[in-house]
Amino acid sequence: MINDFQPSLSTVSTSVEKTATDALVLGVAKSPQGPILLPNPLADEAAKGVADSLKALGATGAPDQLLRLPGMDGFSSETLVLIGVGPLTGEATGGITLEALRRAAGSAVRQLGSIDSVAIALPASTVEQVGAIAEGAAIGAYSFNHFRSSEEARTSTPVRDVQILTELKEKQTRAALDRAAVVGSAVRATRDLVNTPPSHLFPESFAEIVSELSDRTKAPAHAGGSARAAKVKTKVWGEKELARDGFGGILGVGSGSSRKPRLVRMEHSPAKPVAHIALVGKGITFDSGGLSLKPAAAMTTMKLDMGGAATVAAVVRAVADLNLPVKVTGWLCLAENMPSDTAQRPEDVITIHGGKTVEVLNTDAEGRLVLADGLVAASAEQPDAIIDVATLTGAQMIALGVRTSGVMGNEDLREALVMAADDAGESLWPMPIPEEARSGFDSEVADLTNLGDRFGGMMNAAAFLREFVGNRAGASAEALDPETSRIPWAHVDIAGPAFNEKGAYGYTHKSGTGVMVRTLISYLEGLTR
Ligand code: BES
Ligand code: MN
Ligand code: ZN
Repeated sequence: MINDFQPSLSTVSTSVEKTATDALVLGVAKSPQGPILLPNPLADEAAKGVADSLKALGATGAPDQLLRLPGMDGFSSETLVLIGVGPLTGEATGGITLEALRRAAGSAVRQLGSIDSVAIALPASTVEQVGAIAEGAAIGAYSFNHFRSSEEARTSTPVRDVQILTELKEKQTRAALDRAAVVGSAVRATRDLVNTPPSHLFPESFAEIVSELSDRTKAPAHAGGSARAAKVKTKVWGEKELARDGFGGILGVGSGSSRKPRLVRMEHSPAKPVAHIALVGKGITFDSGGLSLKPAAAMTTMKLDMGGAATVAAVVRAVADLNLPVKVTGWLCLAENMPSDTAQRPEDVITIHGGKTVEVLNTDAEGRLVLADGLVAASAEQPDAIIDVATLTGAQMIALGVRTSGVMGNEDLREALVMAADDAGESLWPMPIPEEARSGFDSEVADLTNLGDRFGGMMNAAAFLREFVGNRAGASAEALDPETSRIPWAHVDIAGPAFNEKGAYGYTHKSGTGVMVRTLISYLEGLTR
């Protein structure tokens, strides 16, 4: 259920006072001396009046604080909106970070709900700043009403028209606006997929939605948008093909459900790629735990368990929309983990694609089983690097909380992803794979079990996945160093950050967040520079 809604993003050079929209947004920063109205070169006399009355209005500059003032003398907009941006930062950032701009724009647009048009007058003197404001607004303009019975609720849209006040010319900002539109679409699509209930999103329907998304040759229209996106190629393995090709992990996990598993391969293949990156996503459309059944309270939110696959699908689509000269393949490992008389049992032995055997000791450790198939399949094509994304372990939340994703694996790739996350404004932290982790998976009967030591569960899971990352072609069998003979690989655990169970903040709504979409896009863009 992906909504095609796309806010129109544009820049205008009218003055704050002359801009006529439903709401005009101004930023308020926090300082030791009290709240400060953030400057915009297009703000003149009338805005100064607002600046002088911030304290009286109760504006503090705290992030997410939003105050609405009725239209005032000298302003052409219906409503004047003050949004908090937090404390000012050093000169290096021009006083405000790009992420603070994204969050302020996103928070304002999110909180303004279904208002029609918004003009944003935040600091926007560089193309990067305009891009950040546009991106935040495009991500903040989100709602999920598909399953409301009332027509009115279903057809209501978030903010539809976003104008960014800047002295820069349309010609200078067009590329940044186009990029923000693509990024916004990708994040919103990921959220839609995560938010869609498991009654409606299951492996077959997921594969169909992705095929449709891939067939698009044009990005959804936005103001003046010229993006002509390339087609994404897809291939879907049904039950028969999965059995034929020996995808025992995906089949084993999916065997308890009447809704059969799928493997989807997506491909963006430009003419002269600078690199080939494979993305592998965990796509458990519902994780009941299987026969190792979860307690009822732990089962709610488990529709989120396809968040990794949703992220991968949206990123491949975005990379094609942006026409990036990087070959990207996406592998979506889709299954529903259910208990039944056909479900896999604890102590079953399954055979992963390529032949390694796994003794399933806990059917709730299912993500690593489907990913094992995906990693082996991705490795066979010898990409330059493999990145998997998964809501893999509860231990991720114990270690890093609900807003910071963990990344493990090859050191260089890990660091590159952390840097990409910093650029994108997302929180990603490097974690080790301890040397003792692998032996926790030793099995009496098979090559390994799927259940490692309890402590360090997030990192232990990475040690399991690493076993399924293939060697670089040409590396000798008795390779001196297993680290350097393997295809560079990183594992990103988004168990907590994929789903926001608390209150909305910044551009982040409740429920599906679309986390790591922007980091992966930034990483792939970085390869082209
Ligand atoms: N999908 C869960 C992990 C998860 C938990 C994601 C909470 C988001 C929120 C995963 O399949 C799982 O059940 N993991 C187990 C692994 C254990 C059995 C080794 C866990 O974390 O408890
Ligand atoms: Mn599980
Ligand atoms: Zn799971």
